[in-house]
Amino acid sequence: MTQDEMKKAVAHAALAHVVDGKIVGVGTGSTANCFIDALAAIKHRIGGAVASSEATRQRLASHGIAVFDLDEVEELPVYVDGADEINAAMQMIKGGGGALTREKIVAAVARKFVCIADGSKLVPVLGRFPLPVEVIPMALGHVRRELAKIGGTPLRRAGFVTDNGNLIVDVGGLPIADPVELETRINQIVGVVTNGLFACRPADVCLLGTADGVRTLTAA
Ligand code: 5RP
Repeated sequence: MTQDEMKKAVAHAALAHVVDGKIVGVGTGSTANCFIDALAAIKHRIGGAVASSEATRQRLASHGIAVFDLDEVEELPVYVDGADEINAAMQMIKGGGGALTREKIVAAVARKFVCIADGSKLVPVLGRFPLPVEVIPMALGHVRRELAKIGGTPLRRAGFVTDNGNLIVDVGGLPIADPVELETRINQIVGVVTNGLFACRPADVCLLGTADGVRTLTAA
């Protein structure tokens, strides 16, 4: 299977986690886009969707899927999203598409987080992918200095503004021995909105695309 075929296969497999008549949370990125396209085929069975980005909102709407604000929904049984990296504990780095803050909010509300990813995303240790951090613009210099103090190489993502009007700093070279500790620590830096470590709230299940088909992983 090619990477694209893997993305389509895991997106299709995620439909089994969608609850009839309920709202589904939808992530952002190329794999999440495959899920949106698959979801369109069963749109009559769901109550609608909550989007983790403006791009996702538009793609859902283009398929005629009703999109609700998170605040309008009382429960969210499932959230389906991709990842930039995922480890055996179902902890992830996310935010390659810059939607990490809204993704983290929707994930926090959802009862179940289903991560859909092609096989290249499964890693033994998180951190080869530079960690995205969303930053309030006036705090950019301060946040970059603080991130450098903890061993990272922070680079402002050029020409990018998040859906929330903020900046993204991509932090390379960070030692991520303890993802929960690092997620918490970076979020303490004044001016950080959130960071792309999803360790405090990991995925509940990962549908991983492999050459042999879709593997279902849960925390080791
Ligand atoms: C967007 C994300 C995406 O889930 C992540 O970047 C993976 O994207 P893709 O499915 O295109 O590889 O976190 O902010």
